[in-house]
Amino acid sequence: MEIRRTDRPVTQVEADWLIVPVLESAELSSSLAGLDQALGGIVTRLKSLGDLTGKLASTLPLRGVTGIGASRILFIGLGTEADLTIARLDKALMTAARAVSDKKETRVAIVVPSESTGAVSHADFVTSATTCGMVGSLGQDLFRAERGRHPFAGLQVVAAGTAELDGAVERGRIIGQAINLTRDLVNRPPQEITPMGFAKRAQIVANDYGLRVEVLEQPRLEQERMRSMLAVSQGSTEPPCMVIVEHDGGGPNAPRLALVGKGVTFDSGGLSLKPTDGMLTMKCDMAGAATVLGAMTAIARLKLPVNVVGYMGLVENMPGGSAFKLGDILTARNGVTIEVLNTDAEGRLVLADVLSYAVDHGVDRIVDLATLTGACVVALGEDVSGAFTNDQPWCDTLLAAAKASGEDVWQLPMWDSYEDLIKGDVGDIKNTGGRWGGAITAARFLKHFVADKPWVHLDIAGPAFASSNKPHREAGATGHMVKTLVELARRFGT
Ligand code: BES
Ligand code: MN
Ligand code: ZN
Repeated sequence: MEIRRTDRPVTQVEADWLIVPVLESAELSSSLAGLDQALGGIVTRLKSLGDLTGKLASTLPLRGVTGIGASRILFIGLGTEADLTIARLDKALMTAARAVSDKKETRVAIVVPSESTGAVSHADFVTSATTCGMVGSLGQDLFRAERGRHPFAGLQVVAAGTAELDGAVERGRIIGQAINLTRDLVNRPPQEITPMGFAKRAQIVANDYGLRVEVLEQPRLEQERMRSMLAVSQGSTEPPCMVIVEHDGGGPNAPRLALVGKGVTFDSGGLSLKPTDGMLTMKCDMAGAATVLGAMTAIARLKLPVNVVGYMGLVENMPGGSAFKLGDILTARNGVTIEVLNTDAEGRLVLADVLSYAVDHGVDRIVDLATLTGACVVALGEDVSGAFTNDQPWCDTLLAAAKASGEDVWQLPMWDSYEDLIKGDVGDIKNTGGRWGGAITAARFLKHFVADKPWVHLDIAGPAFASSNKPHREAGATGHMVKTLVELARRFGT
């Protein structure tokens, strides 16, 4: 997709679709007034007829227009200026991008208001327009002859200003590509994205974007005594691995941020086999790892002045003659003994060893991402991630980055009383704490493997993979949290 910013007046921009954001207010903005004049007052008429309300994410198409450079207009509502946030803006612009991406080879232009709008700065609006244009026009139908969405042939961001705005476009493009990389990895079938299939893609993108990459294969994992992670992999014929990618932008003495991702490339449940309905979407169980990889590419391409290391634990969880069993006692890399009560609580077993590896390799702060529990989806719904921490200031930093990125995250408690639920009978801890508080007991389990490092666990089981299409997003992988991680890394440097 060719992407560029243009200084041209809105009326002169040539495009198949001109996307025009409209606030829910009485007056017309200056660019809307110019458009109105060129179109013989139609904008004013639509407003007075009540057809152009500007309500958030409402759309109004005008086809076959004459008198301006574009042949079609899509008005997209932003709601009221006072309520505008990045989250609401993204929702509106994603809706618009999806609405005009149903045909091949479409040239699209998105109009950006001439100054800041509510709480959204001019530059952030430009970035959001670019990212949404890229993410909204890419579908999940990778293998269909007749695709439902088509990436735009060209995207123009109509925003007059200085070279700073070119940087905002570039940032939006890099983030958009990172989100689409994450989505692509998650949407691809589990027969392709096996642990080694994931590692191959990671090596390619790492080489493309100048990240250091290392793949630890099974013998190395054994040497490292990562027996908790290896147990999960036992029932599968696909060899496990751990991918490490590193961006050194901060110099040798700067602190290191670790991003750790759950990469279960298919979660059948193992011997605690999932029923078909629950297993159906379990190719998505490597979304944590895919989110880490996507974010790392953006962090490297943006040349953020920080040190960040991504650790991705990759296994397939299958039943089989050599599968790990209920009642097995696993000794994790850090020596903690784990009673296996349910082989479907496998994500925490993978993360346990990857977290302890990261801790021993001198990272200073940790964020892990995992499609870890159905319980978190029950608690917070499909569109919100759960956050859990052992260090409130660090969690506050992450929550602030999420807010600035327009992604919904809600913190859940980690009180000591939950610990009783995972106390082992014959080992130190059990891999499930029963039904109640399942997202929290899973987080308490992980806490045993982060030593005393400031750590936030993000349970992305709900938002990582969408069950149905909505006007503002395609069903399937969402790339949720890529933006937040990039923003967190940006703030880590300051
Ligand atoms: N990968 C699943 C969690 C999940 C559920 C992700 C729905 C995405 C959507 C995880 O490995 C799992 O199976 N968790 C169990 C834990 C239980 C056995 C303690 C669950 O949530 O039921
Ligand atoms: Mn599972
Ligand atoms: Zn899982």
